[in-house]
Amino acid sequence: MSTLLEVSGVSVSFDGFKAINNLSFQIADAELRAIIGPNGAGKTTFMDIVTGKTRPNEGRVIWGDKSVSLLKMSESQIARAGVGRKFQRPTVFEDQTVRENLAMALRNDRSPWAVLFYKKTTDGAARIEALADEINLTAQLTRKAGELSHGQKQWLEIGMLLAQDPKLLLVDEPAAGMTPAERDHTTDILKEAAKTRAVVVVEHDMDFVEKLNCKVTVLHEGSVLAEGSLAHVTANKDVIDVYLGR
Ligand SMILES: Nc1ncnc2c1ncn2[C@@H]1O[C@H](COP(=O)(O)OP(=O)(O)OP(=O)(O)O)[C@@H](O)[C@H]1O
Ligand SMILES: [Mg+2]
Repeated sequence: MSTLLEVSGVSVSFDGFKAINNLSFQIADAELRAIIGPNGAGKTTFMDIVTGKTRPNEGRVIWGDKSVSLLKMSESQIARAGVGRKFQRPTVFEDQTVRENLAMALRNDRSPWAVLFYKKTTDGAARIEALADEINLTAQLTRKAGELSHGQKQWLEIGMLLAQDPKLLLVDEPAAGMTPAERDHTTDILKEAAKTRAVVVVEHDMDFVEKLNCKVTVLHEGSVLAEGSLAHVTANKDVIDVYLGR
């Protein structure tokens, strides 16, 4: 595996408060990574930096095998370079069916194939069905997105992001508001997605993180406090003091 994203020496201040403090870490391509840490640790701000929403005061954010700087790119350029982000509130089109939502997302396909070659509608249909299967919504394809449960809407949004075929998918607190069964399906969806791309998941729910069964980065006060397996980081005294022991 090679490095897909390298954050190095990044700091961000809001009104003199250092939300991100000399943050350095790397994400490999096709890896699943969980980011945990107390409220205000800088987890969401990290995603804001990678997506170009927030600009750091210092540091480097290097992307891809050509090692380009994401800091010189606009939010839409970063999205086109292959960074997809799932926000906490699903932004699906409620009056459209699941199928129509996925079809719309596929029409925004950023891959060069979509531009160079005429895509037959049958290909589109097959793609939609494969996506629906991946996000556990095959039985819901003809339903309006507005009728879906909260968890199903979240999956639909993940599917719409996967339709864009991102190289890196950033997901902030996906398990919030989900039933236990929906949480289990969500871990399956994210694990499957991470077989062909990098997926970075911010989550407070430790059972959820355990099921992801991946490398964990613990953030605290805008820096990496510990990194490794969940068993490794949860045995770390600093992690227990600032996060788990609360
Ligand atoms: N746009 C902003 N303006 C001012 N302060 C901000 C801004 N964004 C984040 N912060 C502050 O930066 C710190 C880090 O916030 P961030 O949202 O990244 O934390 P988090 O780790 O995602 O926390 P949570 O687990 O609660 O979601 C917090 O103290 C927050 O109040
Ligand atoms: Mg957050």
